[in-house]
Amino acid sequence: MVHADASTFAEGITKEQAYQQVLDQAEGLFFEQRNWVCNLANAASLLWHAYKSLPFPSNQVNWAGFYTLNPLSPPTRPQLILGPFQGKVACQTIAFGRGVCGTAASTQQTQLVPDVDAFPGHIACDGASRSEIVVPIAVAGKGIVAIIDVDCAVVDGFDEVDRLWLERFAAVVGAACDWP
Ligand code: SME
Repeated sequence: MVHADASTFAEGITKEQAYQQVLDQAEGLFFEQRNWVCNLANAASLLWHAYKSLPFPSNQVNWAGFYTLNPLSPPTRPQLILGPFQGKVACQTIAFGRGVCGTAASTQQTQLVPDVDAFPGHIACDGASRSEIVVPIAVAGKGIVAIIDVDCAVVDGFDEVDRLWLERFAAVVGAACDWP
């Protein structure tokens, strides 16, 4: 049963509790639903509202969402394409290896960037973003199918707690969807 209250996070909860709620609500929403657009849309909403409920710096998150592997890009030159998100309009396509997102996709490693100005090749979709975390979503037999991207309007917006929980969330999301 889908209810908008899934996006309601209690005031005063810790970041760990907020991420736990994101995972719990996502598992409920993904039950008997494997469409990737539907599930990533609800996942972006959960993340956005979780950050907005938290104290500084998490409440300064200004973009949270997904890029997916563009099925129309050639395997020799794979490309990410914008997926469901919350925040301002963003770059539509990103080649593997470019920017923070493309680096996470090509290396299959989380990119935790405390200061985007210090990341060579950072793609400034929105000049307001000061820090960023990008977590790859990989599926056995397919490799990278998507990435989670979260931007923050202040430096040092993310830490190892974000990395740990977003990597857990990536595993849940990866397993919950049929990917194109
Ligand atoms: N900054 C990202 C581009 C995507 S936007 O932040 C939404 C990058 O360098 O890959």
